[in-house]
Amino acid sequence: MSRWWKNAVGYQIYPRSFRDANHDGIGDLQGIIEKLPYLQSLGVDFIWLNPVYASPNVDNGYDISDYQDIHPDFGTMADFEELLGKAHAAGIKIIMDLVVNHTSDQHPWFLEAKKGKDNPYRDYYLWADATENKLPNAWQSFFGGSTWTYDDNSGQAYFHVFAPEQPDLNWKNPQVREEIYRMIRWWLDLGIDGFRLDAISHIQKEPWDFRITDNPWAPFMNVTGIEVYMQELKEIFDAYPIMTVGEASGVSSKKAVHWTKEDGYLNMIFELEHNVREGQPGAEQLNLLGFKKVLSRWQKDLGSNGWNALYVENHDNPRIASILGDESPKSAKAIATMYMLLKGTPFIYQGQEIGMTNFAFESMDQVDAQDSHNLYRILLDSGSSPEEALRNVTHWTRDHSRTPLQWEGGMFGGFSELLPWMAVNSNASHLNIAEQEKDEQSVLSHYKQLIRLRKKQSLFSESAFELILKNHPQVFAYLRKSDTKQVLVLTNLSRKPCQIDLPTRVANKKWQLLSTNTADVPAVAKRLQMQPYDAWVFEEII
Ligand code: GLC
Ligand code: CA
Repeated sequence: MSRWWKNAVGYQIYPRSFRDANHDGIGDLQGIIEKLPYLQSLGVDFIWLNPVYASPNVDNGYDISDYQDIHPDFGTMADFEELLGKAHAAGIKIIMDLVVNHTSDQHPWFLEAKKGKDNPYRDYYLWADATENKLPNAWQSFFGGSTWTYDDNSGQAYFHVFAPEQPDLNWKNPQVREEIYRMIRWWLDLGIDGFRLDAISHIQKEPWDFRITDNPWAPFMNVTGIEVYMQELKEIFDAYPIMTVGEASGVSSKKAVHWTKEDGYLNMIFELEHNVREGQPGAEQLNLLGFKKVLSRWQKDLGSNGWNALYVENHDNPRIASILGDESPKSAKAIATMYMLLKGTPFIYQGQEIGMTNFAFESMDQVDAQDSHNLYRILLDSGSSPEEALRNVTHWTRDHSRTPLQWEGGMFGGFSELLPWMAVNSNASHLNIAEQEKDEQSVLSHYKQLIRLRKKQSLFSESAFELILKNHPQVFAYLRKSDTKQVLVLTNLSRKPCQIDLPTRVANKKWQLLSTNTADVPAVAKRLQMQPYDAWVFEEII
């Protein structure tokens, strides 16, 4: 089976915020079609599309009411097929989001299931006896509040690890699995190139009387018994030349080998550990040493047996240029250099390639994410002032990543001609794609250069990773080593200058420059001074 994704670079599209072709304020499939030449010029090989299926949008498409239809906001099935055909013609593959831990509460299965205990669809979901005041257990959902919602009609409650409008499917029921597998094959037969499996490590649950000790999510994180379902999924995927990437929180870097090895369940998984936060809510910072330790542990543990999915941004996190960088183009380039040359398949989240920054939220009306609204309510109830609650919630909200993509300096950043569903960042006037396309020193040009570099040299996909300066609190430095050659990556991910002492075996080699984000680059030597966000890549001369 071809393992094309080992040399590929991915681009994540959040369709609502990518490009609005019919000017109703919401991004759509025709908008993506229109911008395929841009993606081609960037040099990416595949797109991962966040959900575009029919959905009441309680969780922006992650609550699906029909797996085999497109939400009218985005277009039609015909638009989707047009996108697939045109993307393929442009040499770009399409990966779809697969959300099968739960459906929407408006999915016909759940509407049936709610009708009563005897309904044939009842067992498609997870129900347990309850009263309004006594839920089956005290487990908490990821979005705040109980994992249970009481149903007056039947004297039972149903289970959900996310919002009440996202009831969890009962994977123990073979009929549910058959329906899901049929749907998966339907998409694969249509010719799509793979799936990103949403929340996949949650499909198996502990018994309802499981006792939580430390980790509140333990009862539904990679629980024993999941192997059977993952193996069934793998057998379906194996019949197609596709790639699969799982969102698999709770799968440790050690266990991830089993998930992503040559005959593992999936080709790769996203780890969710590297956003190591420190500080009080409302003023959290990324802990750089923690971030570096997690990323390098995953590099080491997956080694040559598993495979990493590399990312620094997605639709669930703030902008990396704001939380790790200082919002300068130089810092955005340093971060790109650091992660794009690790071992694995890099994903770029829309806007990251121009160094888009966090949004200065001024009121909760500008916030969309349900979990942020829940948290806001909880904070108000526990005595926070509205200003305090707003600050706490918006400091790290995932909505930072969902403001419209900044195409050009004009009205609404060239995203739409109508007021967009979410506010456009005011820095779109100068921070935008059109400006950066003209500038060889831009963040965008740097990304293009890194993508080309990665693809030109098989060393970047195949060779081993070795961390150096392991305990340096601000420099992320590593080697990529093949039998014949090595590459040295040096990045200062901090606002502070510093000094580094390279190991003699590194300093003694002869090096030439491959990539830089500064005009002047010192020759490699035992001791080097690094200015804030300096990022240099050297290749051994042999
Ligand atoms: C994943 C998605 C997130 C969504 C959740 C529920 O974590 O990335 O956006 O809210 O699953 O489907
Ligand atoms: Ca639209």
